[in-house]
Amino acid sequence: MDSAQHADEIAPGTPPREFHRTVRLRDGREVTVTPLTPADAGELGTALRQADRETLYRRFCGPPPQVTAGLLRYLTELDYVRRFALVARDQDGHGVAVARYEATGQPGIAEVAVAVDPAWRRVGLATALVRLLAEAALARGITHFAATYLADNRPVADLLNEAHAKQTIAAGVAEAVVRLPQQEARHDT
Ligand SMILES: CC(C)(COP(=O)(O)OP(=O)(O)OC[C@H]1O[C@@H](n2cnc3c(N)ncnc32)[C@H](O)[C@@H]1OP(=O)(O)O)[C@@H](O)C(=O)NCCC(=O)NCCS
Repeated sequence: MDSAQHADEIAPGTPPREFHRTVRLRDGREVTVTPLTPADAGELGTALRQADRETLYRRFCGPPPQVTAGLLRYLTELDYVRRFALVARDQDGHGVAVARYEATGQPGIAEVAVAVDPAWRRVGLATALVRLLAEAALARGITHFAATYLADNRPVADLLNEAHAKQTIAAGVAEAVVRLPQQEARHDT
C-alpha cells in the first residue's frame, strides 16, 4: 500500500495512539513521547514564556509571537493529518521538547519545526522526534519536509546536511527541503 492510499484511511482529529512511545537517548536518559493535545496548552504557554531568548529567536526565525490563548490553541489544536505535533516528557512528566509539522500549500510538503530544552540537547532528541514525525507524515501522504531557519543556526544546518537536504539561503534565512526516506513509514495493520 502506498502512503497516499494509507492517508485516505486516517481520520483527522484523534491523537494517534501509535505515537505513544518511549525513546532512550544517547546518554541513557529516557523520554516518553505522545501527540501534543489541547490539554498541553497551559504547559506549552509556560514553556514559551520561560524559554531563553536565543531558543525562541531560533525557533521562530526572529522575534517570537506573543503568547496568547489564540496562539496556544493554534499550536495545540491539531488534526494529526495535516498538522501534527509530538511532545517529549521526562520521567517526572515535564515537557522537554516539541516537534511539529504543518502541511504547506504545496502537495506532499510539510514545514517542520522543533525545539529542545537546553538541558536535553545533543543526545539525539530532535533527531528522534523528527524521525517519528517523518513516520507519521509518510503515512499521511507527506513525502517531503521543509525547514526554515536562521542561516547561522549551525545545529540545524548540520542536522540538515546530514540528511542531504537541499538548502538555499537569502537575507540570513535558510530554507531546506528533504525527501523523507520511505522506510520510515510503519503501516499498522
Ligand atoms: C536545533 C535543536 C532542535 C537540536 O536539538 P538536539 O536534540 O540537540 O539535536 P540532536 O541531539 O538530535 O542533534 C542532531 C545533530 O544536529 C547537529 N547539532 C545539534 N546541536 C548542535 C550544535 N550545538 N552544534 C553543532 N551541531 C549540532 C549535530 O549534527 C547533531 O548530531 P551529533 O550530535 O550526532 O553530532 C536544538 O538545538 C534547539 O532546540 N534549538 C533551538 C530551536 C531551534 O533552533 N529550532 C530549529 C528551528 S525550527
